Amino acid sequence: MKVFAFAATSSRQSINKQLVQYATSLIANADIELIDLNDFEMPIYSTDRETEHGIPDAAQRFFDKITHADAVIISFAEHNGTYTAAYKNVFDWASRINQKVFQNKPMLLLSASPGPGGAKSVLTQANASAPFFAAQVKGSLSVPSFYDNFDMVSGKLNNAQLNEQLTAQVKALLS
Ligand SMILES: Cc1cc2nc3c(=O)[nH]c(=O)nc-3n(C[C@H](O)[C@H](O)[C@H](O)COP(=O)(O)O)c2cc1C
Repeated sequence: MKVFAFAATSSRQSINKQLVQYATSLIANADIELIDLNDFEMPIYSTDRETEHGIPDAAQRFFDKITHADAVIISFAEHNGTYTAAYKNVFDWASRINQKVFQNKPMLLLSASPGPGGAKSVLTQANASAPFFAAQVKGSLSVPSFYDNFDMVSGKLNNAQLNEQLTAQVKALLS
């Protein structure tokens, strides 16, 4: 079982990276690949760039990571109610290889914010658009007030209810 996971943000101090890392730690006996989106930085997508220079190698590398995975976990950061520019750019380029970016993989969609909103707006958008991009969403969880609900020292959710939900969803992802 190969699991491809990442936080949809370019922040080095990312709370979503903490969350996605914790989610992967709940998986036993799997080959986990947790990538940093910064390793897939590309020029901002434009049709002119695509016509002139084609699709960057990094977009193909990203797409191939999904191809070779049995399951995918993404934790979304929310910027101004939607995706971070860093994620949207990688996604836009990857969608030019094949619009079915998620290639029918079982997926877990997470989100986190320091405030009470839990980045629910971006998570709602990711869930709503999932069918267009061939994502088989097996679970979805928003973590609000991150610093209250997540112990930064142990790297674990310390809210029992959220932890229970995440554990169940990870199980569902792999079943
Ligand atoms: C440009 C910008 C816009 C933001 N917009 C939102 C927002 O719409 N909703 C929200 O809950 N948090 C927003 N935030 C706060 C982020 O949730 C916070 O920076 C969080 O740490 C981002 O996740 P990350 O640490 O995984 O990158 C914004 C932050 C930035 C820098």
